[in-house]
Amino acid sequence: MPEKAQHLSVGPGIDFWPGYFSSAEQRTLLDEIMSRVAHAPFYTPTMPKSGTPFSVAMTNFGTLGWMSDKGGYRYQAQHPVTGEPWPDIPPVLLDAWNILTGYGAPPEACLVNLYAAGAKMGLHRDADEPVRDAPVLSVSLGDTAQFRIGGPARKDPTKNFPLASGDVLSFGGPARMAYHGVTRVLSGTSQLIEDGGRINLTLRRVTRP
Ligand code: SIN
Ligand code: MN
Repeated sequence: MPEKAQHLSVGPGIDFWPGYFSSAEQRTLLDEIMSRVAHAPFYTPTMPKSGTPFSVAMTNFGTLGWMSDKGGYRYQAQHPVTGEPWPDIPPVLLDAWNILTGYGAPPEACLVNLYAAGAKMGLHRDADEPVRDAPVLSVSLGDTAQFRIGGPARKDPTKNFPLASGDVLSFGGPARMAYHGVTRVLSGTSQLIEDGGRINLTLRRVTRP
C-alpha cells in the first residue's frame, strides 16, 4: 500500500481507498490473476430463468465461487466448465482483506468480473451469502468504471463515482445490502490490461466462521 493511501468515507458503511494499490502492485496482482485464469478461464454467466448472457465474463478464486445460470444464483466449489476447484485467492488480496475489513476470518470467495468494451452491471445486491456481518471488499484494475451505490431498496438514491485501477472499496454494516452496479466502463483510461477493459474482484465471506 502506498504510504499516501487515503481513506474516504463515502457514506455509512461505505469506505473507499483510492489508489490503494500502486502501479507496480497492480501489475503484480494482474500477473497473479492471469496465472490463475489460465487454469480457471473466464466464462459467460447467464441469467436464471431467461438464460440471457451477462455482458461481463466471470471466474472465481477461493473455496467457493459465485455462479449464475439457469439453475439460479449460488455458490459452488468447482468451475462450471473445467469441473476443477477454483484457484486460491492471491495472498495480496487476503492481506488487503485483513488490513481493511478487520474481519476475523478470511474471505471464501473472490468473484472476478471482466468488463470488455461495452460491458456493464445492473443494480443488484450481493444477497447470496448466509453471512452478512462481513463487508464486501472490491478491488478494481484497468479501465475506470462509473460505479453507483444506493441503499437497501432499489429506488433509494445512488451515489455515483469513478472506480479507477488500484482503487479499493468496501461496503458493509448498514451498506452490506446496498444496491450497486456499474453504469459504464471508460475505454482507454488505463494501459494495465493489454487488450483494454476492466477487471473487478469482489471478496466475500459466505459461511459462518
Ligand atoms: C459486482 O458487484 O459484482 C461488481 C462491481 C464492480 O464491478 O465494481
Ligand atoms: Mn455485487
